[in-house]
Amino acid sequence: MAVDVLVVGSGGREHALAWKLAQSPRLGTLYVAPGNGGTRLVGENVPIGIMEFAKLADFAAEKKVGLTVVGPDDAFVGGIVDFFQARGLRIWGPTKAAAQIEGSKAFAKQLMRGAGIPTADFAVFTDHDEALRYVREKGAPIVVKASGLALGKGVAVCRTPLEAEAALKEIMLDRVFKDSGTEVVVEQYLDGEEISIHALSDGKTHRMFPASQDHKTIGEGDTGKNTGGMGTIAPVPRISAETLLDVEERVVRPALSALKQRGAAFSGILFPGLKMSPEGPKVLEFNARFGDPECQAYMRLLKTDALDVFEACVEGALEGQSIEWNPGFAVNVVLASGGYPEAYKKGLPITGVEEAENVPSVVVFHAGTKTREASPRGLLTSGGRVLGVSAVGATLKEALERAYEAVSKIHFEGMYYRRDIGAKSLAG
Ligand SMILES: Nc1ncnc2c1ncn2[C@@H]1O[C@H](COP(=O)(O)OP(=O)(O)O)[C@@H](O)[C@H]1O
Ligand SMILES: [Mg+2]
Repeated sequence: MAVDVLVVGSGGREHALAWKLAQSPRLGTLYVAPGNGGTRLVGENVPIGIMEFAKLADFAAEKKVGLTVVGPDDAFVGGIVDFFQARGLRIWGPTKAAAQIEGSKAFAKQLMRGAGIPTADFAVFTDHDEALRYVREKGAPIVVKASGLALGKGVAVCRTPLEAEAALKEIMLDRVFKDSGTEVVVEQYLDGEEISIHALSDGKTHRMFPASQDHKTIGEGDTGKNTGGMGTIAPVPRISAETLLDVEERVVRPALSALKQRGAAFSGILFPGLKMSPEGPKVLEFNARFGDPECQAYMRLLKTDALDVFEACVEGALEGQSIEWNPGFAVNVVLASGGYPEAYKKGLPITGVEEAENVPSVVVFHAGTKTREASPRGLLTSGGRVLGVSAVGATLKEALERAYEAVSKIHFEGMYYRRDIGAKSLAG
């Protein structure tokens, strides 16, 4: 029987989820709330915001939506899953209690300490003067983190004690992240390459996805400010099957069982961000959802019907569900507005998306786009991260060449992208 599906979110991640779900032979109608200029090509955009739980649930009930799949962290941490479940609606993802592993870095660090999961040494503070004393005692480099959600801006990697003091002032006294800064985590600086791990759990059993790698900073060579993510590769050639198994045993399994022990069994995607430190993998943070742009690469690699996978997860039937991956590599290169992650212009015309998609294997996922009213095919920029150009290939090199060839067809005023996505892995 056909299942109508509602995807919640408006980024590249949600376009990728919608794009993959749209390929399911069992899919009925696909809705995306609120969606973007790309999701309307694979489904029907519904003008409801991600935090408007009552409106979303009313819509799902009225349209007899059989499954809701949510992208963004704020919705999970805000309790969208509990809200839908209380209304008897089928929804994929973690409950509010389970999503605390992302929503509170202090909670996550204490959970890791309790479960013996490798992570940076840390202390948690609610008192500014105590935090200041600790920072002065430890010295730099040191990392200061607002405990709550802060749109990826609540972490200061501090090279000097003065930088750390300034970060504490901003978060704890000036309250630039409001209540997200009530608690801070101060932790040891870790060196090493960053890797994204994704595990799908139904609360009883879990499956590891291939490792992926985001490129966080705006500048090439990993320089400049942190962004939402400028590009992904998956799998990561230097992460061996053994390393992945090690991470599964030392990070994923203990985190899932610690949550379960606390009465907050985790269903959905558990996404630890790792640093491959000289002493082995260490967890930087846990996310309770797909990464963006990691998700775009995963949806290109996933062979199994995504609707089957999400439904098995919601039903607690993951054990009997196979998850198959296409061979080769997937990459996603983000095209951003000039000036991002700081101020940038919006409403600029975008050209060349169709030409880009004529390059073999290329799919362009929309993030910050909207459709021009005057002409239905005209696209305009509407966000910092505008498009994600994804490609697959038998080798990483082939996937990257295809993606960058497609990128060269696309244009908008001020368009910026990193030319070094995957470059470190190619260099060996
Ligand atoms: N202990 C650490 N040592 C070095 N770099 C860190 C450390 N913690 C965080 N970072 C850097 O800051 C980025 C953001 O930190 P993270 O904990 O992932 O928070 P969020 O994604 O919520 O902003 C990481 O991707 C990493 O580059
Ligand atoms: Mg992070």
